[in-house]
This record gives sequence, C-alpha cells and structure tokens, in this order.
Amino acid sequence: MELQNEEYAKLQESTSEIMRRWCGHANVGIILGTGLGGLAERIETETIIPYNEIPHFPISTVESHAGRLILGRLEGKSIVAMQGRFHFYEGYSAREIAFPVRVMKELGASTLIVSNAAGGLNPQYRAGDVMLIEDHINLLGANPLIGPNDNRLGDRFPDMSEPYSKELIKLAREVALKNAIPTQLGVYVSVPGPNLETRAEYRFLRTIGADAVGMSTVPEVIVAVHSGMRVLGISVITDMGLPDALEPASLERILKNAGEAEPKMNAIILGVLRAL
Ligand code: HPA
Repeated sequence: MELQNEEYAKLQESTSEIMRRWCGHANVGIILGTGLGGLAERIETETIIPYNEIPHFPISTVESHAGRLILGRLEGKSIVAMQGRFHFYEGYSAREIAFPVRVMKELGASTLIVSNAAGGLNPQYRAGDVMLIEDHINLLGANPLIGPNDNRLGDRFPDMSEPYSKELIKLAREVALKNAIPTQLGVYVSVPGPNLETRAEYRFLRTIGADAVGMSTVPEVIVAVHSGMRVLGISVITDMGLPDALEPASLERILKNAGEAEPKMNAIILGVLRAL
C-alpha cells in the first residue's frame, strides 16, 4: 500500500504542476516517436512544458527527441502531446516509461495516439510504409504493471483482447483511403534494443508473428489499456529487417525515412482527430 500511495502521490504532483500552467482539459494524448515530432508544429499551442520542469517526469536522453509536453488544440480537440518519449534502452523501467500516460489520463485524455519508427519484417512492406498497429507482442522482458496494483488506476489483470481500438483503426483506414495513403495493418513487436536485430533475430521475430519491430510503444500502450484508454498506434517503417537480404541500417537513414513518411502519418492523425 505504501508503494501504491507513493506512486499515486507522484501522479497527483505531476498533474497539479501541469494544471497550474494549463487550465485546459485534455481529450486526446499523443506520443510522437523517433523522427516524427513535426506534428507538434501544427498544434495551436497553449503551453509548452519541458519534461525537466514536471516533477517525477523522466528526462529524454535521445538526441532525436525533443523532450517536452505540448498542450493545446489540434483539429478542434484539446490535446496533450509528448514530443519525445522514453525508452527501455535508456535505462528507465517500463513503469517510468509509461508514467506520462498516467498523467495524460489524469489530465482527462480518454484516447491515446502513439507513433513510432519500426523495422519492417513482413516482406510485403517497404521502407516508408505506414502501418496501423493491430496488435503487439511484448518482448521487452519487462512490464509497466509489475509491482503492487493500484485499483484506483486499473485492474490487476487487464484484458488484452483488443489493445488497439478496432474502431480507431477503421477510422484511420477511412481517413487514409480518403487521402490516397496506402496503409499496412500489422503486429508490432517490442524489443529492448538499443542494437538493431541480427539476421537470426529478424527471422525469429517474423516467425512468431510480427510484421514490424521497434524499441518503444508497448509499455505506454499497456498502461493506456490498464487505465481504460482507447489506443491508436501507427508505425512508420524506416528500414527492412529481411534476414536473407539484410543491409546495414544507419540511424541517419532511419531518421530520413521517418521524415519522408511523416506527412502521411500526420495526415492520418489529423484526419482521425477531426473525426473524433
Ligand atoms: N529494429 C528495431 N527498432 C527499429 C528498427 C529495427 O529494425 N527500425 C527502427 N526502429
């Protein structure tokens, strides 16, 4: 009970500090992934808070991530957006990584939209594709819900039969179709990283049923589901992990491909927000 109350108190402290600086009520939380932070420029910003000014927030250590919370309006919805997220490979626990999602929920968000850069495993995919996440496999070897469960925040054994809202996927596909944006629909597997996969690992990940692999998203989604939020997940395929035709991947190329595919992803997110 001690631990639970301590975490609950931290959540209240983080949320109070944000509410002291922003008097809105969020509808939607958005997490912008690697190389995909540009959507932040479209937000009618009301307040920007660097993570280091929010009590108990982890600090982003990856250069390609900005590390700030943006509060404002986008397509008529009140949103709280993370420009830059936290990763397991940075040394944070899964619980710490997902803490901001709890804060988003406390601020009022009932929907979470998450984006990420991912390696393609499905041979029908190409770098630059946009994949709507239909389901995930957690291979982090960690889980943000490990430890005492706080019943105020969610159930001990949350159901995972539909972590990614079918309704939001349908909506995203409709928006994509209207904008002539092809989309894939697939399974995302999360690995700890930070190294990219070996050929044998890519082959294994494909064999167990994944279409794309990345180093993020799953902790945040688990906590979002635990707290009763609806989730839409979007991956941008930045490189192909084809074991028999593997080319060396470079971070520059991954970021470049993410940047090139970003407008497609942004169009889908904006269209979904408009329709919510
Ligand atoms: N593997 C893991 N994470 C990634 C990849 C990959 O190939 N591409 C982008 N993020």
